[in-house]
Amino acid sequence: MNELAKLLKDEHETYDKKLAEIELELREPYEPQRISSALRELPEFFREIEGHFLKEEKFIFPELDKIARGVPLSLVKDEHDDLKAARDMLKMVKKKFTDAIQYKDKTMLHLAVHLTQRVIKHIREHAAIEDEIILPLIDKLPDDKQKRIFVGLQNFDISEPST
Ligand SMILES: [Fe+2]
Ligand SMILES: [Fe+2]
Repeated sequence: MNELAKLLKDEHETYDKKLAEIELELREPYEPQRISSALRELPEFFREIEGHFLKEEKFIFPELDKIARGVPLSLVKDEHDDLKAARDMLKMVKKKFTDAIQYKDKTMLHLAVHLTQRVIKHIREHAAIEDEIILPLIDKLPDDKQKRIFVGLQNFDISEPST
């Protein structure tokens, strides 16, 4: 695998570890305190994930779009938007469920766990599609182009506002 694809794949693996940590908090028997912190941590973690999305949208997808004729990369990009919407949904759940968590409402806790797990699963599936289908396309880019993107990615400040 080329170093550019590896850089992004490594980020996916780092995120997967963090997601596994959050997932642990959702284990049974359901513990209101743990579920509450998972509901806070996952949307917070999105700040990093969105930095990664931005790198892909700015540096990778436009270049692959030029060479990967027929591959609907926009579907993968649209998933970034779906995931951001899922992040907002979790924030809303966290707000709504604070009282339920305090009152140990089992049904509400159950729902919060399932919704959080679904978002985690979605992030993982998105990364798997990129690892298996999108990142291998980078090999088709000329070497000098790959190097330029690699340097650009390493110097990219993810705090830069999204356009
Ligand atoms: Fe992505
Ligand atoms: Fe990615």
